[in-house]
Amino acid sequence: MGFKNSSLLCLAVFLAFSSSIHGFNITRLLGQYPEFGMFNQYLTETKLAEQINRRNTITVLALENSALSSLSGKPQETIKAIISTHVILDYYDEKKLVEATGNHTQLVTLFQASGLARNNEGFVYASLINEGEVAFASGVKGSPFNTLLVRTVATQPYNISVLQVNQPIVAPSIDASAGSSSSSTPPPAAAKAPVASTAPPPAEEVVAESPEEEAVAPAADAPAADGPAAEESDAADGGAAPHNSSSRTQIGLVGAVMAFVSLFVSL
Ligand SMILES: *[C@@H]1O[C@H](CO)[C@@H](O)[C@H](O)[C@H]1NC(C)=O
Ligand SMILES: *[C@@H]1O[C@H](CO)[C@@H](O)[C@H](O)[C@H]1NC(C)=O
Ligand SMILES: *[C@@H]1O[C@H](CO)[C@@H](O)[C@H](O)[C@H]1NC(C)=O
Ligand SMILES: *[C@@H]1O[C@H](CO)[C@@H](O)[C@H](O)[C@H]1NC(C)=O
Repeated sequence: MGFKNSSLLCLAVFLAFSSSIHGFNITRLLGQYPEFGMFNQYLTETKLAEQINRRNTITVLALENSALSSLSGKPQETIKAIISTHVILDYYDEKKLVEATGNHTQLVTLFQASGLARNNEGFVYASLINEGEVAFASGVKGSPFNTLLVRTVATQPYNISVLQVNQPIVAPSIDASAGSSSSSTPPPAAAKAPVASTAPPPAEEVVAESPEEEAVAPAADAPAADGPAAEESDAADGGAAPHNSSSRTQIGLVGAVMAFVSLFVSL
């Protein structure tokens, strides 16, 4: 193998590793679409962007600027709760979403991971309505399937998927309480049991993720959504999966060393 070829190979190997170090950057990704400027700004302000970037598999249900007008003026805490309900902790493209509608799969969101969600507020369901349109509803019992899938904005299979939806998915209790934690009364536990039990075994990816998120919940169950609580939930998340930034960096370094070694070996 000639010098030029092996150099190219090294470069390819190096780039492959460095892309796995950096992962994706939701801020940059959405930055290419001015129509999602407001949504992107909310992600940054609420620090949800950092949490999204630390994940390996994620789906973001993005809202256009005009679709976010109903959120303006709401407390930051409420906005964070609502926006984090639009971040699904798994990769869903349109095809997989349609499957999920058939399976009645419970979609786990970043709001559930915050430990602040009550009464299934942290879950979302997808369903087919009308002539095969994909619609979303809050996991709170009785929530209507009012939010429609508009289009695929961007995908990096099977890590990140950005899909546009037409209006916010808002759990009634989140909107009503508007940040005050005392005003909503929990419905009987029996109400959520049937919903949970209809989630079938095929939803193993979602189910597999749940215990991890449950474990996060108590630690992150602090009054403030920002600061230490958010950090804790991220830390716990990093602990559960052997992919924290330092291990990724090590892999990157190993990759770089391997690339250089292979360069010299092939000379
Ligand atoms: C994509 O996801 C896989 C696991 O599903 C993970 O191993 C890989 O590191 C992820 N890539 C990025 C860029 O995050
Ligand atoms: C993501 O991209 C934005 C905009 O390009 C940049 O300001 C930010 O520093 C990036 N974040 C990371 C973690 O690279
Ligand atoms: C839905 O169920 C089918 C089999 O019934 C399975 O192959 C598929 O992976 C499931 N999809 C999702 C998104 O749960
Ligand atoms: C995560 O990073 C910390 C240092 O920041 C390190 O001590 C720990 O071993 C790492 N955990 C994993 C699973 O890589």
